[in-house]
Amino acid sequence: MPEQEYAISQYPDVEEVYARLNALVSQPIRPVRRAKMQDYLAYFETQCLRSRELNAQAKELIPGGVQHNLAFNYPFPLAMEKAGGAYLWDADGNRYIDFLQAGGPTILGSNYAPVREKVLELLQECGPVTGLFHEYELKLAQLIHRFMPSIEMFRMLGSGTESVMAAIRAARAFTHKRYVIKVGGAYHGWSDQMVYGLHIPGTGRMESAGIPRGATGLTNEFYPNALSALRRQLWLNRLRGGTAAVIVEPVGPESGTRPVPHDFNQSVRELCDEFGVLLIFDEVVTGFRMGMGGAQGYFGVKPDLTVFGKCITGGFPMAGGIGGRREVVMTLAAGIGGTGERAYVGGTLSANPLSCAAGYHALLEMERTNAPVIAGQAGDRLTRGLQSLVDCYHLPYVVYNQGSIVHLETSGTMLLDFKNPVRLLKQLKPRKHMMEEMGAAYMASGLVTLAGSRMYTSMADTDEVIDDSLNRFEGVFRNVEGVKA
Ligand SMILES: Cc1ncc(COP(=O)(O)O)c(C=O)c1O
Repeated sequence: MPEQEYAISQYPDVEEVYARLNALVSQPIRPVRRAKMQDYLAYFETQCLRSRELNAQAKELIPGGVQHNLAFNYPFPLAMEKAGGAYLWDADGNRYIDFLQAGGPTILGSNYAPVREKVLELLQECGPVTGLFHEYELKLAQLIHRFMPSIEMFRMLGSGTESVMAAIRAARAFTHKRYVIKVGGAYHGWSDQMVYGLHIPGTGRMESAGIPRGATGLTNEFYPNALSALRRQLWLNRLRGGTAAVIVEPVGPESGTRPVPHDFNQSVRELCDEFGVLLIFDEVVTGFRMGMGGAQGYFGVKPDLTVFGKCITGGFPMAGGIGGRREVVMTLAAGIGGTGERAYVGGTLSANPLSCAAGYHALLEMERTNAPVIAGQAGDRLTRGLQSLVDCYHLPYVVYNQGSIVHLETSGTMLLDFKNPVRLLKQLKPRKHMMEEMGAAYMASGLVTLAGSRMYTSMADTDEVIDDSLNRFEGVFRNVEGVKA
């Protein structure tokens, strides 16, 4: 296999990023000037009438009028009608540069024709589902094994959330241990046991409405990058039934919102080996976005289990999968004649031919076009441009990227934590609101971001697209409080 290439051209200086982030949260917020914010909000009232109308109707039937946590929803969610390459068009015909990328999967660009055509061929031939084995399942598994040799066996599932559930179940069945340790603030989907320490480190069950205590009782969190705390937790758990697995997002919680030092994953690997614990990489975002070898290839660390989502079907439905060490993944064997103790997983539509064909062709296209690396270069260009704008307008905002994952922290909401509970309680609301406002200002300027603080770039983001977006960001930054008009 030829040397794999990766999306990260230069790993961020993590200490320096944290110093800037700490400086950001230690000072008062710098939102858009009030009068200008009114202008941005007026955009939605005057240019997005169809979206407003649809949203009003949706609110009657859909809780909150929106179904995606990432859908930008301040002042109200826009209805998108058309997607192509780097752009989205809303129901009123307004065009946007798409840095949400559906939350990550469309690294080839939106609605990428070569994959769409293969999916249409498959649909003509056999429709989306038969419930029986299809050759595309094998082809996809072979491809993933080629890109990531740690995937000795692979099982396709319906989403990242399901796949995390399966990974934890397999880890428990294989090790006969009880606890699972995650990094505080990390997102591993919304299963009962993982809605714990969500988004903000140290918050434990803060978001666990509707989840019985017992369901999170065997989940532990440790503060991001705190290896000594992880060691302590492993020791403690050893005395009370053991740890089945440590699960990490390999670039850091919330797709690197709190980035990890370059050697973090290796250190976690060593701790897992020392305590006889399985290491699960949640590569739902990094799987193929970091490069065809994933974050595990980039960092050179071999997890026992890997969780997939998003890119695994190139943006088509039922994006989930779990792979890794043969003897562990074998606990998920389905069908009659399973082998010994079995960790039960299923799904009527899991591994349907449509998803497998879409994934297979999307991954092949990503390899052929070098999409992860091209998207990473677009991320570098966007980051460099944003940094010069931040410098030029003397803003405290923090910009850094891990390839095609670009972070633009303007309010620092995601950096608050329970180590400073007074600050957290006092500042969470205003900082969150500023984040929403920034997202609305970007949107009114023709830019779709992820919650106003993260951007995913794709292969479709040419230099022209990035430079156009930078002009639009500049328009917003010029209107920030304290910037001379
Ligand atoms: C790192 C990570 N893990 C798991 C998930 C859950 O995946 P899904 O939304 O497919 O359930 C996500 C979703 O954003 C994610 O970012």
